[in-house]
Amino acid sequence: MENILDIDTVALDDEAGCIRAIDQTLLPGEIKVIEIREEEEMYDAIKRLVVRGAPAIGVFAAMGIYLLAKAMPQDSYEGFLKEYERASDHLNSSRPTAVNLSWALKRMRGVVEAHKAEPVPAIVSALHDEAVTIRNEDVAVCKGIGENGLTLLHEGDGILTHCNAGQLATVRYGTATAPMYLAHEKGMDIHVYCDETRPLLQGARLTAFELSSAGIDTTLQCDNMSASLMKAGKINIIFTGCDRVAANGDTANKIGTSLVAAAAHLYNVPMYICAPTSTIDMATPTGEDIPIEQRNPDEVTEMWYARRMAPENIHIYNPAFDVTDHELIAGIITEKGIAYPPYSKSLAEIMKK
Ligand code: MRU
Repeated sequence: MENILDIDTVALDDEAGCIRAIDQTLLPGEIKVIEIREEEEMYDAIKRLVVRGAPAIGVFAAMGIYLLAKAMPQDSYEGFLKEYERASDHLNSSRPTAVNLSWALKRMRGVVEAHKAEPVPAIVSALHDEAVTIRNEDVAVCKGIGENGLTLLHEGDGILTHCNAGQLATVRYGTATAPMYLAHEKGMDIHVYCDETRPLLQGARLTAFELSSAGIDTTLQCDNMSASLMKAGKINIIFTGCDRVAANGDTANKIGTSLVAAAAHLYNVPMYICAPTSTIDMATPTGEDIPIEQRNPDEVTEMWYARRMAPENIHIYNPAFDVTDHELIAGIITEKGIAYPPYSKSLAEIMKK
């Protein structure tokens, strides 16, 4: 079987007019790269978590809007722009919490604006270049997060992570996993504990899979087991990713992250959030201003079971993300350095770099 780490999570194939993406709904059982061409397929891929993880969604959206722009009528700027904005708004509505989606689409829209005096084919060519730049930056940014995060690791560390902020959530390296990959490359003795991450099992299906594929010593536990690991002194540090960091340092990430942070606070384990600066949203003042997606109740009651595991007609609560209060976060690791409290000051400084 091909090693998952040798395949780009999302890749633009301009000649074939498609994005090749690993279908993450099939992992770890099947490694399948699918071709995505149409607007509805792009929307659906994000909605169904075929492509997921904040940075990967941003890169995918940039590649996607470029491919759609290429197929749009190019005889008048006005006609092109109307169609471009409609498609961009549609893609943008596929997942509300991850700010990288709107960040990437805004960047692409900025390219259209900057080239508006040129013929439409020249605008489309500039969109291509921007999508490639966003993709390449993602790889470099994740490496930067890895190098900064590595400075916090010690020989023999037990590291806890929640959900998947790994290579599968980016183009390469991941965010929360980047320091782990670098530590492993250096021959450091680390052990990673992955929360299973109900209800969609990104920890079990994706993180445990990619880390063990890299040869990293990995243990999987259910979400309700990580506090006992902390109490037993097995966890020295926690790295998670995030979907959006508000200006005050409150952080939205996969549901359950705030519970990990609360337990970490109780047991005195430092909790670090790994965030590309594209995930930091200075226009969102606090966590209360971050929209949280509610998902289909079937994910809780039926998705992974041969038969339904809850009574019919029961109320189901299924938010995709929760917000970790900034008071519970030891630091926010970006590609430009590590932000420490008070975050309103340190994040503003990092965003200026
Ligand atoms: O619903 P998902 O699988 O897209 O959730 C992913 C996460 O919560 C990640 O931690 C986050 O997007 C950061 S990925 C580098």
